[in-house]
Amino acid sequence: MMNEVRVGLLGLGTIGLGAARILIEQNSLISKRLGKNVRLVAACDRSLDRTFDLDFSDVRLSDQASDITTADDIDLVIELIGGYEPARTFVTQAIEHGKHIVTANKALIAKHGDELFALAEKHGVSIGFEAAVGGGIPCLKTLREGLAANHITAIYGILNGTCNYILTRMENEGLDFSEVLNDAQSLGYAEADPTFDIEGIDTAHKLSIISAMAFGSTIHFDEVFTEGISKISADDILAAKDLGYRIKLLGIAKPHGDQVEMRVHPTLVPLNAQIAQVSDSYNAVQISGDFVEHTISFGRGAGERPTASAVIADVMDIARVFPDGSNHLAPPMGFISSARTRLATMPMNEVNCEYYLRFMVKDEPGVIAAITTILADQGISLEAVIQKERHKRQLVPVTLLTHETNEGNLQQAIARITQHPHIDANVLILRKERFDA
Ligand code: NDP
Ligand code: HSE
Repeated sequence: MMNEVRVGLLGLGTIGLGAARILIEQNSLISKRLGKNVRLVAACDRSLDRTFDLDFSDVRLSDQASDITTADDIDLVIELIGGYEPARTFVTQAIEHGKHIVTANKALIAKHGDELFALAEKHGVSIGFEAAVGGGIPCLKTLREGLAANHITAIYGILNGTCNYILTRMENEGLDFSEVLNDAQSLGYAEADPTFDIEGIDTAHKLSIISAMAFGSTIHFDEVFTEGISKISADDILAAKDLGYRIKLLGIAKPHGDQVEMRVHPTLVPLNAQIAQVSDSYNAVQISGDFVEHTISFGRGAGERPTASAVIADVMDIARVFPDGSNHLAPPMGFISSARTRLATMPMNEVNCEYYLRFMVKDEPGVIAAITTILADQGISLEAVIQKERHKRQLVPVTLLTHETNEGNLQQAIARITQHPHIDANVLILRKERFDA
C-alpha cells in the first residue's frame, strides 16, 4: 500500500474549485477515512489571471493540460473542464500515461464513455464519474453496488438542477423560464452552454449513462427521445396544478425484452407523488428492482459543494485501493465489460403514455366535438376536457387529458386534428406518469 495519492486537477471553474477546496480543507478527514494522504499536486486552467479564494501556494499551477496529464508525479487526474473536446483528448492522454481518472463530465461519458472505459481497462486504471449523474447524490454507486442483486425494472429521475430550479421558481413566482435562467447560471448550476440544460440534453446525457448501467447496455445518448422545458409557460404550470399535477423534467428508462425505452421530457406528475415534492436545484432518482422494489435517492443535483463532494468520494474510492487498478473496484458500468451488450432503443412511436394536450382553437361551435371525434376514431379515450376561457376573436386554450395510448397513434390523431381550420397547428403535448405503484 502506498501512503500518498498525488492528484492533478484540470479546470478551476465552479466544480474544480470545489474539488480543490475539499482536498485542501478536508485533508485531515480524508486521511483519517483512508489511512493515506491525498495531495493536490498540480492544477490547470486556461484562465489563471484571476484571484482564487484558496491557498494554492503548495500547488503547481499551469495553463497547459499536458503539464498534468503527462506528469510523472501525478497518480490521478480529475477532469473538470467539461464538454466533449478537448476533455476527451486530455483524459485519453492521462490514461495512456497510467493515471486514474475522476470526472463530473456527463457529456464526455455519454458520448465517449465506452471507448474510455476500454482504454482504462487496457491500461489497468479506474474511471470514476459519480458526479456526472445527480450531482451530490451517490446514485450511481447505489445502482452499481447497492442494487447489484436486482434486475432493474424502471428508472425515473429529476436529473437536471437548473431545470428543476427554473420550474420551481416559475411555479412559485409565476415567472417565465427566461427570467430565471440567469439566476441558475449565477448560482453555478447551468452548463457552459445552458441550452444543454433547458433543452433536455444534459438530462439525456445522464439518462443514457444510468440506463446503460442499469440494463448492462453500451451507452447510446443520441437515441434518447429528448424534449426540454423551453416551451413550458407559467400558465401551463398553473393549468397542470389545477388538474392536480406538477410539471417536472423527467428522465425515464425501462427495459422491454431486448429493447430499452429512454425518454426525457416535461412530465405531469401527481402533486402527492414523492418526486413532485423535489424542488429547487434538488434532484431525485427513483430506481425499481425485481427484489428491492422501489428506492429513491434525493439531494442537491448541481452546484459547487454537492458536486465536489461526489467528485472527491470517487477520488477516495480509487485512493483506497491505490496503487492497484480497476480490479478492486466494481466495474465502472456495473457489469464486467464482456457482459455488456448493445440493447436497441425502443422507437418513441411504440412507447405507451398518458397525455396532457393543449390546443389553441377559435371559439366556434363544433371545434371540441371535432377534436374528441378524431381522438375516439383513433381509439384514444379521455380523462378530462377543459375549456375555461371564452373569446370570440382570439384563440382560446382547450386542454385534454387522455388515458394511456401509443405515441405513434397519438401523433396521427394530432396530425388529423390540426388540419381543422379553427385549430392552431401548435399543440402542447406533455406526457403524464402516475407513480401509483
Ligand atoms: P466551469 O465552466 O465553471 O469550469 C470549467 C473550467 O475549465 C473553467 O475555468 C474553464 O475556463 C476551464 N477550461 C475550459 N477549457 C479548458 C482547457 N482547454 N484547458 C484548461 N482549462 C479549461 O464548469 P463547471 O465547473 O460548472 O463544470 C465542470 C464539469 O462539471 C462539467 O463537465 C460539468 O458538466 C460538470 N458538472 C457541473 C455541475 C455544476 O453544478 N456546475 C454539476 C455536475 C457536473 P473558462 O472559464 O475560460 O472557460
Ligand atoms: N447543469 C447541470 C444541472 C449540472 O443543472 O443539473 C449538474 O449536472
